[in-house]
Amino acid sequence: MNYLYILLYYIENYVYQKMKFIKHRNTWCWGTSTIIITNDGCGTVTVQFDDEFPCAANITGLSVYKDKRNKGYGTALLKEAEKEAKEHNKEIIYISCDKDSWIEDWYKRKGYEDDGLIPEFDYKVRRLKKEISIL
Ligand SMILES: CC(C)(COP(=O)(O)OP(=O)(O)OC[C@H]1O[C@@H](n2cnc3c(N)ncnc32)[C@H](O)[C@@H]1OP(=O)(O)O)[C@@H](O)C(=O)NCCC(=O)NCCS
Repeated sequence: MNYLYILLYYIENYVYQKMKFIKHRNTWCWGTSTIIITNDGCGTVTVQFDDEFPCAANITGLSVYKDKRNKGYGTALLKEAEKEAKEHNKEIIYISCDKDSWIEDWYKRKGYEDDGLIPEFDYKVRRLKKEISIL
C-alpha cells in the first residue's frame, strides 16, 4: 500500500512540474488576491489575502473544466495556490466547501483539517485549514 502512495505522489508531482500557470495579482476590498490560471485556460483558483488577518490566506474558486477533470489539474492548482500563500509568508490556509461532500474528503486527503461549520451559511459550509509549516 505504501508503494501505491509513493507512486501517486510521484505522478502528482510530475503533473504539477509539467503544468504552467498564469498569475494575476489584484487588489480587492479586503486586501489583495492572486488569480491563478493554467496556461491552457482550463483551470483556475484564487488566493485571497485579507489585511485584517495578516497570517492567513483563503483559497477560493478552485475550478476545472468538466472535460479536463480527473487529470491532476485540481491538485496542481491547489499546490500552486499553497505555494502562493507560502510566498506571501502566510502561516495558515483556509478553504470552505459544502459539508460532507466528496470535495471535503478530497481536501482532507490533501492535508486539510476540519475547522468547523460556518454559521453565516446555515452550518452547511465547512471551513478547512492547513498549517503552511507542514507544506
Ligand atoms: C474539485 C475540482 C476542482 C477537482 O479538479 P480535478 O482536476 O478533477 O482534480 P484532480 O484531477 O487533481 O483530482 C480529482 C480527484 O477528485 C476525485 N473525484 C472526482 N469526482 C469525484 C466524485 N464524484 N466523487 C468522489 N471523488 C471524486 C478523484 O477521485 C480524484 O481524487 P484523488 O486526487 O484522491 O485521486 C473539480 O472537480 C471541479 O472543478 N469541480 C467543480 C467546482 C468545485 O466544486 N470546486 C470546489 C470548490 S470548494
